Amino acid sequence: MSLVKAAARARDNAYAPYSKFKVGAALKTASGKVYAGCNVENVAYPEGTCAEAGAIAAMIADGETRFVEAAVIAQSPQPVPPCGGCRQKLAEFAEANARITMATTEGIETEVAVADLLPGAFTLDHMR
Ligand code: THU
Repeated sequence: MSLVKAAARARDNAYAPYSKFKVGAALKTASGKVYAGCNVENVAYPEGTCAEAGAIAAMIADGETRFVEAAVIAQSPQPVPPCGGCRQKLAEFAEANARITMATTEGIETEVAVADLLPGAFTLDHMR
């Protein structure tokens, strides 16, 4: 199954009664394992979580910490890029050349390097 398809399947289960904007995400590790997540909203709006965060949590819970490829899908006119917070979360676990495919449910896809999503990222080096 393609990574976009895995993200789309997770998106089907998104809990987004407030925004009505369902998002799915999937990550692939070097060994080929795939982890998917969806957005999970809450009546206390700030407590909602993004699809990317769900996929990362699934990967970490399974004992993996690095991904080489990611996909995000939503129903939108143009592919939806990860939000600012998710860019930082993705940067934490992305292999150096990891790429992310952003897709719409209508089949439009664009691709970008995760590293290019967060220029000037805050990293461990800043805390030395
Ligand atoms: N959302 C994601 O899940 N990922 C993103 O990268 C963009 C936004 C979700 C959060 C919220 O549930 C809904 O989309 C509307 O912002």
